[in-house]
Amino acid sequence: MTVPKNGTSNVVIQVKNLTKAYGEVTAVNDLSFNVHKGEIFGFLGPNGAGKTTTLSILEGLPKADGGQVAVLGLDINSQTQAIKQRIGVQLQSTSLLPDLTVLEQVQLFGRLYGRQPTKQEMMQLLERVGLVGKTAVFPEKLSGGQQQRLALALALINQPEIIFLDEPTTGLDPQSRHVLWDIIRGLRDQGKTIVLTTHYMEEAETLCDRVGIIDHGTLVALDTPGALINRLAGVSSITTSATMLLDSIQALPSISRVQRNGTWLHLQTNDVPTTLRTILDLAEQHELSLHDLHIKQPNLEDVFLNLTGHAIRA
Ligand SMILES: Nc1ncnc2c1ncn2[C@@H]1O[C@H](COP(=O)(O)OP(=O)(O)OP(=O)(O)O)[C@@H](O)[C@H]1O
Ligand SMILES: [Mg+2]
Repeated sequence: MTVPKNGTSNVVIQVKNLTKAYGEVTAVNDLSFNVHKGEIFGFLGPNGAGKTTTLSILEGLPKADGGQVAVLGLDINSQTQAIKQRIGVQLQSTSLLPDLTVLEQVQLFGRLYGRQPTKQEMMQLLERVGLVGKTAVFPEKLSGGQQQRLALALALINQPEIIFLDEPTTGLDPQSRHVLWDIIRGLRDQGKTIVLTTHYMEEAETLCDRVGIIDHGTLVALDTPGALINRLAGVSSITTSATMLLDSIQALPSISRVQRNGTWLHLQTNDVPTTLRTILDLAEQHELSLHDLHIKQPNLEDVFLNLTGHAIRA
């Protein structure tokens, strides 16, 4: 594989035909993609899609079964240590050390990288993640969002060029999620490259510059959120609570896809007026009162459904 030289290419991660199996399970199946300098690159996929496995291989552990990976122009197998000095990896917030204060954790992580960060450097770092008021606090006294932000600060201690974030906002309330998004955007705006994984459509759609949709270890699409959504140009989504009508709706020629999700039916159509009229007629025939019927332009959720045939939370 030709490894791009730093400075001559804006490709900071190059992955070709990456494969990794755990026993019978193919976790990563022939993935090829590039990540560009200064972008927020997101892997979107359901549980077990292979997101963490892919990220971990890019971080240097575990080793892949096949394929080539270059990070910052360095080979992941033979130059792992050099790569590790230049990347930041967000730990799960549960990996924070319970007996060290926020400031002490930052100090310790600095030392792990062979650095002795000054108080000023550490405070700048904590300011970046909005934790300056929490320097003397132990992790158990931090909220979930604050713990995630501390974990992010620790990933930044070595001033990495690429930052890997595995589900940075899972389990957070919307407000904490937005705070983290702003921090991540700030890092991108300073020229850092961010590679993250997410289950959240909104996160992929609004935060990521490019999104790789991954399902069963396979990359099914990779593009900007806008371009992915444009693939469904002319298609609209209709959501209704009339799940009883599933069979009749499925048979309609104006419907390109139907998905039942709990108490909802999600339909895709390129002919909204005809589809609506037919649903209303069907509801009348079945003496159903339609409580909910929504029409919307397609979003990443619809793209995912279209590409994989199932909803991300199916
Ligand atoms: N250490 C391991 N040993 C055995 N199987 C594993 C291991 N790690 C991952 N797998 C399997 O590989 C597949 C991909 O897992 P992975 O953790 O990469 O998915 P993911 O996309 O990160 O999922 P999630 O959204 O749940 O975090 C799954 O089927 C998983 O069970
Ligand atoms: Mg995972």
